[in-house]
Amino acid sequence: MYGDDALSFLSTLPVKRAAIVTDRFLLNTDLPGKVRNSLPEGAESVVIGNISEEPDEEQVISGMNALINFSPDWIIGLGGGSSMDTAKILFAKYERPDISVYDITPLVPLNLRKKSRLIEIPTTSGTGSECSWAAVLSEKNERRKNELASPEILPDYAILDPQMVLRLPAEQTRNTAVDAITHAVESYVSQWNNPYSDALAEKALSLILGSLERVLSEPGDVEHRSRVHIGASMAGLSFSNSQIGLAHALGHSLGAHFKMAHGRTVGLFLPHVVEYNYETSADKYEKLNSLFDSRFRGKRLQDSLRSYFRSIGQPVTIREAGIDRKAFTNSLDSLVSMAFESTGVTTNPRDAGSDEIRKLFTDAYGGV
Ligand SMILES: [Fe+2]
Repeated sequence: MYGDDALSFLSTLPVKRAAIVTDRFLLNTDLPGKVRNSLPEGAESVVIGNISEEPDEEQVISGMNALINFSPDWIIGLGGGSSMDTAKILFAKYERPDISVYDITPLVPLNLRKKSRLIEIPTTSGTGSECSWAAVLSEKNERRKNELASPEILPDYAILDPQMVLRLPAEQTRNTAVDAITHAVESYVSQWNNPYSDALAEKALSLILGSLERVLSEPGDVEHRSRVHIGASMAGLSFSNSQIGLAHALGHSLGAHFKMAHGRTVGLFLPHVVEYNYETSADKYEKLNSLFDSRFRGKRLQDSLRSYFRSIGQPVTIREAGIDRKAFTNSLDSLVSMAFESTGVTTNPRDAGSDEIRKLFTDAYGGV
């Protein structure tokens, strides 16, 4: 469901008891109240609002207790990727208290939806979690994130209402949009790309590039917010039907190690990864390059990405992102080995071994 006031769709659903899963930051805004007020008359609701930026299993367990006590027939994830992913995991565990979170894999039939349904309402424009069947779960006290996935945790509905992102701060607007741009570019050339994911990636990129500057200068512009919001969701649908690549593999690793925002980290690697992949995907990269406005368009896609990122204030080197060189160098071995664990290494259009990944990390530190 998309467009201005898409939230009112909630009032048409047969909701008796809704559990709204959200984060501590949003708890202090009017957004959970807006969702509650949009539920059908007579519906009861509870807010589970303790989701952190990097939810771990302990949080899932505490959320589960609240869910079991309340016994909802609908679970609503409200927030960015962390809240929406946690809502998916809570939904699976609430339906199947007998399984471990690590049973959430595409290989195991879960038989969910015996007690409840799942809705996701993004309050950032970037992760695409509202349209994906993946969820990220951190490991407590570990600099590691687990990627869980099952077609059964794909939400029943995603509600894309620009009113939910109108007051998103500039920093998060930029970080999450850069994540969405990275989804579109990586999905487009992934080894699993297909005509369906290609169409979504192209449209996503043109919507975001056409409206993001306006959104950053006029955050209350509903029309342009809506375009970026839908574009980000389309980019999510695109990579859900294809895959991501090395910028996500390296970005996940750097973000988990240095606790940086996901979009900020994947964006640091994207121009380098495009450069690395160029020979395998030149025609497709040229097509994407043609979508950039002439103010930013360079000879190759990596040039356009760099000049566009600079213009919106996204750092283009790891150093610019504030990571100390010594800390970076000392962590390089574990950054490389952690990057290898991501599916992005497998589906990237050009193979990369540890030497290539190490070089991408070091190039991205100082810029080329
Ligand atoms: Fe991402």
